[in-house]
Amino acid sequence: MSNVMPREAGGSRILLTGAKGFIGSWIVKILLERGLDPWIYDVDEEAKRLESLLTGAQMERLRFVRGDVTSLEDLEKAAVDHGITHIIHLAALQVPYCAADPILGARVNVLGSLNVFEVARRHRSQVRRVVYASSQAVFGPEEFYGGGTVPEGAPLLTNTHYGVFKQANEGNARVYYLTEGIASVGVRPGTVYGVGRDRGITSGPTKAIKAAVAGRPYTIRLTGGVDMQYVRDTAEIFIRAAESQIEGAKVYTPRGRVIEIEEFLEVLFRLLPPAKQWVRVEGKPLPIAYDFDDSALVRDLGPAPRTPLDQGIRETAEIFEGLYREGRLDCSDLET
Ligand SMILES: NC(=O)c1ccc[n+]([C@@H]2O[C@H](COP(=O)([O-])OP(=O)(O)OC[C@H]3O[C@@H](n4cnc5c(N)ncnc54)[C@H](O)[C@@H]3O)[C@@H](O)[C@H]2O)c1
Repeated sequence: MSNVMPREAGGSRILLTGAKGFIGSWIVKILLERGLDPWIYDVDEEAKRLESLLTGAQMERLRFVRGDVTSLEDLEKAAVDHGITHIIHLAALQVPYCAADPILGARVNVLGSLNVFEVARRHRSQVRRVVYASSQAVFGPEEFYGGGTVPEGAPLLTNTHYGVFKQANEGNARVYYLTEGIASVGVRPGTVYGVGRDRGITSGPTKAIKAAVAGRPYTIRLTGGVDMQYVRDTAEIFIRAAESQIEGAKVYTPRGRVIEIEEFLEVLFRLLPPAKQWVRVEGKPLPIAYDFDDSALVRDLGPAPRTPLDQGIRETAEIFEGLYREGRLDCSDLET
């Protein structure tokens, strides 16, 4: 696969929306490690997740534009001012926030994504690639698909506003390709876990690891099957999608480790025995299928990175332990 992101100046200039969030912070970390200094476009003034992951020297290399994706004018200015060639669009409100305020959810998740495509259309000779976060939440509950692995191309039967908004983005991406020739890649993560995952319905496994490290009680409020994807792998897939020169408006469903939540607990208890004292599981299964075929992703982007579950949990616990020793482990998310 050819790499269109050379390190030297004058090559690719990447802007990530929402990169002060969980997945974006990891993409930024990996890009910095590879000598690529991206621009971050986010409404958040603080950089809590980035500070947990990056060295002081890396923090100094960050290039931040404070901005809202709902402002086409501001987003366009950021892209033009910095000669952006690649946009990785992550900014979004997650399932509970879209449920609580669907109008705000649509404004950020749908109009914000349209703004990204508008910038790409208006500056087509400069912006060469759009990659955006969709979600496995475009699919409905497991029972709608008759059990087993959900095949590529299965119908999108979501029953959340968030899922409908992500579907709308996939549809708009297709229309931008058909009518304007704007190529894009959508990535649909599942239950992503790792340092920085502190909100959303599937944040429970990460919070459980943090609770075990901090010695705090925590209840994971979901049961049944999940597709556990380690955030380093998810970040790598976004970067590969940005590096690729795939034509069309493609959407890929990554697959991590498909397990029952009880199996996650078993591994957690084996690696961090004090967790037995602190972590419980209760509640309903996710309203989203969790066992997906990822053959299209493997065909177009190469073998999927799949960090084994025990390694991902261990790496996450080690980072949390380091932050705990330094008195920097923020446990405020364990209250929610
Ligand atoms: N984490 C997961 O397991 C998961 C699963 C499937 C899909 N996704 C999708 O991946 C993307 C990243 O998820 P995440 O877990 O990193 O989310 P996150 O909530 O941790 O981060 C979202 C970021 O977007 C920023 N943001 C919110 N509204 C904004 C606005 N109007 N303008 C600019 N920035 C804004 C926030 O400040 C935050 O930094 C999202 O699109 C999400 O829907 C995540």
